[in-house]
Amino acid sequence: MNLLTRCVFMFVLLTPSMLAKTIDCHKQCKCSSMQSNKHEAICRGRDLHYIPLFPENIYNVRMIRTNLTIDKNGFDNLTYIILKKFELYDNLISYIHPNAFTNLTFLATLNISNENRLNVDVLKKLVFFPSKKLEHLIFEHSNWSYLPLDMFSKFSRNKVTNLRIMGNALSSIKCQTFSDLNSLFFLILSENFIQDIDMTGIPSTVIRLVLNDNMLSTIPNMCVNRHDGKGIKSLLRNLSVLDLNGNSISRIQEKSLSCLPKLKKLLINGNPISRIHSNIFMNNPMLCLVQLSKIGYSLKKIDDFAFNSSSLSSLMMQETNFHFDQGNYNPKTIFSLSQNLTSLYLDHSYLPRTEIKLQQMFLPLKKLKVLSLSSTSLTFLPKNIFPNFQSLEVLSLTANRFAGWNDGHSVFGNMTFLRKLYLSNNLIKIINATSFPLDVLNSLEELDLTVNPFACTCDQLWFTKWIKTKKVKLIRYPEYYRCRQPPELDNVELKKYAESEMQCPPWNPLYSMAIVLSCSGLSLVTFITIGLKCQTNIKNYIYLWRVKYNRKKGYFPLTNADDFEYHAFVVYCDADRNWVHRTFLPKIEQDEGIKLCIHHRDFEVGESITANINKYLEKSWKVVVILSNEFAKSEWCQWEVDVVQERRRRYGKDVFLLIMLKTIDSKHMTNQLRALLDSAPSLRYQSWVGEDLFWVAAIETLRKPLEQVTTALL
Ligand SMILES: *[C@@H]1O[C@H](CO)[C@@H](O)[C@H](O)[C@H]1NC(C)=O
Ligand SMILES: *[C@@H]1O[C@H](CO)[C@@H](O)[C@H](O)[C@H]1NC(C)=O
Ligand SMILES: *[C@@H]1O[C@H](CO)[C@@H](O)[C@H](O)[C@H]1NC(C)=O
Ligand SMILES: *[C@@H]1O[C@H](CO)[C@@H](O)[C@H](O)[C@H]1NC(C)=O
Ligand SMILES: *[C@@H]1O[C@H](CO)[C@@H](O)[C@H](O)[C@H]1NC(C)=O
Ligand SMILES: *[C@@H]1O[C@H](CO)[C@@H](O)[C@H](O)[C@H]1NC(C)=O
Ligand SMILES: *[C@@H]1O[C@H](CO)[C@@H](O)[C@H](O)[C@H]1NC(C)=O
Ligand SMILES: *[C@@H]1O[C@H](CO)[C@@H](O)[C@H](O)[C@H]1NC(C)=O
Ligand SMILES: *[C@@H]1O[C@H](CO)[C@@H](O)[C@H](O)[C@H]1NC(C)=O
Ligand SMILES: *[C@@H]1O[C@H](CO)[C@@H](O)[C@H](O)[C@H]1NC(C)=O
Repeated sequence: MNLLTRCVFMFVLLTPSMLAKTIDCHKQCKCSSMQSNKHEAICRGRDLHYIPLFPENIYNVRMIRTNLTIDKNGFDNLTYIILKKFELYDNLISYIHPNAFTNLTFLATLNISNENRLNVDVLKKLVFFPSKKLEHLIFEHSNWSYLPLDMFSKFSRNKVTNLRIMGNALSSIKCQTFSDLNSLFFLILSENFIQDIDMTGIPSTVIRLVLNDNMLSTIPNMCVNRHDGKGIKSLLRNLSVLDLNGNSISRIQEKSLSCLPKLKKLLINGNPISRIHSNIFMNNPMLCLVQLSKIGYSLKKIDDFAFNSSSLSSLMMQETNFHFDQGNYNPKTIFSLSQNLTSLYLDHSYLPRTEIKLQQMFLPLKKLKVLSLSSTSLTFLPKNIFPNFQSLEVLSLTANRFAGWNDGHSVFGNMTFLRKLYLSNNLIKIINATSFPLDVLNSLEELDLTVNPFACTCDQLWFTKWIKTKKVKLIRYPEYYRCRQPPELDNVELKKYAESEMQCPPWNPLYSMAIVLSCSGLSLVTFITIGLKCQTNIKNYIYLWRVKYNRKKGYFPLTNADDFEYHAFVVYCDADRNWVHRTFLPKIEQDEGIKLCIHHRDFEVGESITANINKYLEKSWKVVVILSNEFAKSEWCQWEVDVVQERRRRYGKDVFLLIMLKTIDSKHMTNQLRALLDSAPSLRYQSWVGEDLFWVAAIETLRKPLEQVTTALL
């Protein structure tokens, strides 16, 4: 690297920090860089006694925990920058010269907080530059216990829109104090100890009045008598938001909210309200949101038509612990004139225990989009109520005590606009195919079934299958879906169970019955078919067994095949000639070497057939008879049967090999044949399966020695 490139390299590296050095920020301050658009300087430290000079890009200055005494020129250094926002937090300030602020011409926001030593009477003397830019005055946590009536008298030429005196110690307010703030929109007096507030003199421009966390025991009176003595008029004609959260208000009466014609939002949470009277919103035709939550246990009575309002669209009554299950309200009238309600929150209360009262209460609310009934002690899900809310989009039923509902159609039917359904923390064990109508279930975006005591048994099969195919978002699945049953699966994730190889019968008992029945039917049919198919083989088996093991002991062989020219004489009819010559002969003669006498081949030409038969029968040791329908029909063959029967009488049944080539129909059965079949067992010819068995039995029979027969049998 030569010197030149090194220098260029260093220059490039140094450039940003050199630029930063041009900002002249006091060592006890942090100034945002030129490039950032925060334009903020923050100074800290008790040893800082003055306001230093800031770089010109700084618009916002925050002095935090310094130690300032501000004389006439105390803020001079601030006149060199375009100061828009000035914040003083805990700087031990006890004095500010009245003219200190006069040359801060761009100031828009002044925030003085935690300056406990700064007396209100010092502050009220301050002279501000009469700029319309000064809009936000914030005085927080400075232990002010009162506001002088002329406190803001010097601000009439400014355009203060936002006054915030929060977290002080004010106990009584006369709104005359604010009367010179003729552009005031937001008046915030939160977190004081205000017990009474006289609204007279309040700028009528105020649209938001925030009085939360004070000690008011009644809703401030916003009405004033007309000058002409004819009736009353509103002090706050444009008031849109009234925040009275966290006070000590115990009653809301019909007149409580009078003279607020533009009121849209009423926040009155956390007040010990004991009774809500009729028609409390009668004078608030623009009212759309009411928050009446966190009442504790004090709410004891709600009068008829209390919420009579055609404009009210959102009513939050959470944590009221109100007993809707008792007689302190009228279920028929409570919401009957609140037909524009789209959101209703009644969480943490006690809903009626009967379906009828629930219906009376909810049926007027045809436009509901959000209904929240968490922790309302529901032990069952009512029928035909939710389907009535055809535009309902969100339904929360968490932390109740119902286990099941079975008839999904009457509980959730028709709710095709439903997108979010929350059912966590109940006692649901099993989700069935019928628990939700499928169109409703599939149009959901979110379903929450967390923390229910799921049963991980085969009854859950439908749900575990649905989970795998679902498109709906199951909130916090799988961590919060756990089995409680059976005991051995306690605390196992439902997902793990669903993914395990569950050995479950089909979910419908009827199906399982049908399957068992059809299985047994099928096996029966198979069994019968096999039985029928194998009948011949079975018979042949028995035949073979007899041939093999039915030898009488102690008898000696009477004759021997070697004594004869032919091993066997074959009797068959012409129709079966094909089989005898093509199948029987090759197998017995060629494969087994047993010599057979066949009349077509072996008979001597010229001799009569009867003579031939007699002659060759004598030359043969055994007789094979091939039986078939054709055989039965042939008279000639019948005659041969008579002849061979004579042999049986002499040598016993072992002399025969009776082969039933085809089963003989009963109509062709003759007496001779029957006598023959009775005299000796027959072997059935079986092609394909069982053919081997046939041949083994046939050959075994042919080879079986003839035994002496007792004369008694002759
Ligand atoms: C202005 O700032 C400079 C240095 O930052 C300081 O020395 C001087 O005392 C300041 N002036 C006043 C009036 O506070
Ligand atoms: C603040 O400054 C005054 C003198 O201006 C001094 O007497 C006092 O001790 C300082 N306070 C603290 C907490 O440094
Ligand atoms: C405000 O500025 C004017 C003129 O620039 C000057 O005469 C006056 O002394 C300043 N006032 C204060 C309190 O600095
Ligand atoms: C006023 O300043 C304090 C201290 O920095 C801050 O906590 C508070 O939020 C500010 N108030 C407003 C309304 O900006
Ligand atoms: C607030 O003011 C009261 C008197 O009005 C005083 O007794 C109390 O000590 C002050 N509290 C603080 C934190 O300065
Ligand atoms: C009330 O608001 C309307 C418009 O919103 C405005 O024209 C009217 O001047 C306001 N009234 C008062 C007393 O500020
Ligand atoms: C409901 O309020 C309207 C005015 O908003 C009133 O005219 C009507 O009488 C009230 N209904 C009942 C039953 O009180
Ligand atoms: C009912 O509420 C809707 C908004 O939810 C609003 O637009 C409508 O004006 C209200 N009806 C009445 C009579 O105030
Ligand atoms: C599903 O069916 C079973 C048996 O009929 C029943 O015990 C359970 O409560 C049902 N589940 C639901 C969510 O209704
Ligand atoms: C669903 O709506 C149809 C037609 O609007 C109605 O006949 C049926 O009774 C409703 N079902 C339930 C459960 O309310």
